[in-house]
Amino acid sequence: MKLVLATQNPHKVAEIRAVLPPDWEVLQPSDFGLSGELREDGATMEANASQKALFLWELTGVPSLADDSGLEVDVLGGAPGVDSAHFAGPERSDSANRSKLLDALQDSVNRRARFTTVLAWATAEGVTCYRGTVEGNIGECERGTQGFGYDSLFVPLEGDGRSFAEMSPAEKTALSHRSRALAAWCAKR
Ligand code: IMP
Repeated sequence: MKLVLATQNPHKVAEIRAVLPPDWEVLQPSDFGLSGELREDGATMEANASQKALFLWELTGVPSLADDSGLEVDVLGGAPGVDSAHFAGPERSDSANRSKLLDALQDSVNRRARFTTVLAWATAEGVTCYRGTVEGNIGECERGTQGFGYDSLFVPLEGDGRSFAEMSPAEKTALSHRSRALAAWCAKR
C-alpha cells in the first residue's frame, strides 16, 4: 500500500505513521517537490482536509490522506476551531496561539474544550472524511514538553490529569483525536 500524507508537519506525520502498518509506503509533499503549507481556505475542517487531500491526489495520482485539526473552547463559542492554526495571527505561531488562549481564559472557571481531527481520504473513488474527537480542559498554565501545538494546554478528561505534552507519544495516541479519526478511517477501508 502506498499513500501520500498531505501535511508537512513532522509531528502529525510521526503520529499517523505510528498507527499505520510498517510495510506501507508513506510519501509526503516534499517527495513531489512541494514545500510550504498546502492551501486550506475552507470554512470547516472537512472542507480544508478535503481541499488538501484532493489537491495531492490530483497532482500525484497516489491515494492521499489529509489531516485538519482544531480546538473548540466552550466559553469562546467554539473558537478557535477552524482558525486554530492562526488564532494569534497569520504567522501560525504555536507559542503565540497558546499565550492568546491562556489570556482569553484568564478569568474563566469553565475551561472545557475538545480537540477534533478530520481526515480526508482522496482516491479515484472521490473523497471521504473521518472525524475523531477528544474532550478535555484547558490548563491554567503550560505543562510538559512533548508533542506540539496546543498539547501543553490540553488535559484530556479520560486521562490522569496530565496534559498531552506530559504524555509519551504512545500515551497521547491512546487517547487522541487524531488516532480516533485514524481508527475510523482504518475501519472503513
Ligand atoms: P492544522 O490541522 O495543522 O491546521 O492545526 C490547527 C492547529 O492545531 C495548529 O495550531 C496545530 O499546531 C494545532 N494542532 C493540530 N493537531 C494538534 C495536536 O494533536 N495537538 C496539539 N495541537 C494540535
